[in-house]
Amino acid sequence: MANIRALVAGNWKMNGFNASLEMLDELASGLREGTASTCDVMICPPTTILAAAANQVPGSGILFGGQDCHEAEAGAHTGDISAAMLADAGANAVIVGHSERRADHGETSELVKTKAEAAHRAGLMAIVCVGETEAERRAGDAVKVVSGQLDESLPDKLTASDTVVAYEPVWAIGTGLTPTAEDVAEIHTAIRENLIARFGDDGAAVRILYGGSVKPANAVELMGVANVNGTLVGGASLKAEDFLGIITAYRP
Ligand code: PGA
Repeated sequence: MANIRALVAGNWKMNGFNASLEMLDELASGLREGTASTCDVMICPPTTILAAAANQVPGSGILFGGQDCHEAEAGAHTGDISAAMLADAGANAVIVGHSERRADHGETSELVKTKAEAAHRAGLMAIVCVGETEAERRAGDAVKVVSGQLDESLPDKLTASDTVVAYEPVWAIGTGLTPTAEDVAEIHTAIRENLIARFGDDGAAVRILYGGSVKPANAVELMGVANVNGTLVGGASLKAEDFLGIITAYRP
């Protein structure tokens, strides 16, 4: 098995103003105390404060990401932001296909794929999100749904350093509910098999994050599951103390 360095990424969603950037100072000082030695740490703030965030904590090692991008590099797309613009603002990565984008904006997997390709063209890591709804899980279709989303959302060419997969069951996002460790293991193993079948050695080394109601209290159990190589955190990434508590799950 590839030796995979974990990634703990915080998705601030539509939360955060300039004043919220104080959190980054607390996070950076927590990391300086050695908390992050075993994993990569990323914050995905709203685009309006991305550049300020990236400039706030130089030398901290914290990575930054956008929460979405347009599939084109530039043009007449009012209100949209391209991957190249995110890179220009200091981003290292961009989340694409988050279930809130899929649900609120009708984004299809085909569109998500073009966004991931745009991220790669801009030199950004694409964090591609997949996950089943509650009804799909109840119908016993979770593995089938997630595999289908992967087949359609991932670019045809990727590497272990330019792409991350985030498994986020829709019913676990922001609800306080989480799947059991066995359910997470089943899906993450299926995702790994899918990635290896399609991308070989790179597929074996792509990071697969779990996301959905991760908190300091459940991070150790969830992060200890086979083929879980980190986490995408929403609510608990807004407070440095909680986020550091999750990062600490990776201490040896
Ligand atoms: P949550 O969100 O941690 O608040 O459940 C996770 C996500 O949507 O990335």
